[in-house]
Amino acid sequence: MPLQTERNAMTDFLDIHKTSPADLRAIIDNAGAMKNARKGLPKGTPDAELPLANHMVALIFEKPSTRTRISFDVGVRQMGGQTMVLSGSDMQLGHGETIADTARVLSRYVDLIMIRTFEEQTLLEMAEYATVPVINGLTDRTHPCQIMADILTFEEHNGPIKGKKVVWSGDGNNVFASFAHAAKQFDFDLTFTGPETLQPETALDGLYTTERDPNKAVQGADLVVTDTWVSMHDPQSARERRHNQLRGYQVNKELMGNAKDDALFMHCLPAHRDDEATSEVMDGPNSVIWDEAENRLHAQKAIMRHCLGK
Ligand code: CP
Ligand code: NVA
Repeated sequence: MPLQTERNAMTDFLDIHKTSPADLRAIIDNAGAMKNARKGLPKGTPDAELPLANHMVALIFEKPSTRTRISFDVGVRQMGGQTMVLSGSDMQLGHGETIADTARVLSRYVDLIMIRTFEEQTLLEMAEYATVPVINGLTDRTHPCQIMADILTFEEHNGPIKGKKVVWSGDGNNVFASFAHAAKQFDFDLTFTGPETLQPETALDGLYTTERDPNKAVQGADLVVTDTWVSMHDPQSARERRHNQLRGYQVNKELMGNAKDDALFMHCLPAHRDDEATSEVMDGPNSVIWDEAENRLHAQKAIMRHCLGK
């Protein structure tokens, strides 16, 4: 008689530490296999298998996005599904309707929800009240889809990430937090180098080590990562202060010169060139930022299959 999917029969993708290491590994391997299977095909070509055939996916954005918006949209279409890209402010959600009611209603129209929002609580409430799976497309606290793409990218270039040294230079932000969760689940070593005032939140303590001196921090690094110094949820009034605090943590040729010769450079993008990283590094031989951006597509396709059990 009940027509709704049972909540406990569904799989959300809310954060990296909330998915088991075995499932995370399966997602990465599946993403790589799906990527290889469509090498050289025009982007609009449907995949050989269409696991999302007849499925409708809502993509909700309460913050700007280029990569997340387009990669999810293209990914759903390649797998045979259909998308609706919605902005929070155009929905009643942005005008007082509760998240819980929005979640209940959306679940009657779509099979999967991806949401990019501000407070983590919005994501968690959406997941609690939706009767379809929910995927985190970035909150103020985390960005798990990004880091799945980053792991895929690292392993394509430099082999298994297990046991490798990853160094984050800059702001201890939402993208860093998902790296910290991944360090535990994928068993790699993570170092944070940045000012004390922009230290990652204490909930992440124990998942990484801190070294204030960036040149020391990157010694022996297999991967150097940074991100914008001012995130979308940060007040613009903090811009100048943050720049002053973070200038010494810029990823430039000198800093990369202290890492391993084959160390990769990553940035989730969008970047502010010559602030957090120089153009010389971004466009240099160790940079894999375009592969990283492409791999959002492949990683998220595997995440959606995981959520829908397809
Ligand atoms: N890296 C990332 O999430 O980019 P967008 O903000 O463009 O989606
Ligand atoms: N830390 C950045 C990531 C953007 C993809 C932000 O939240 O704005």
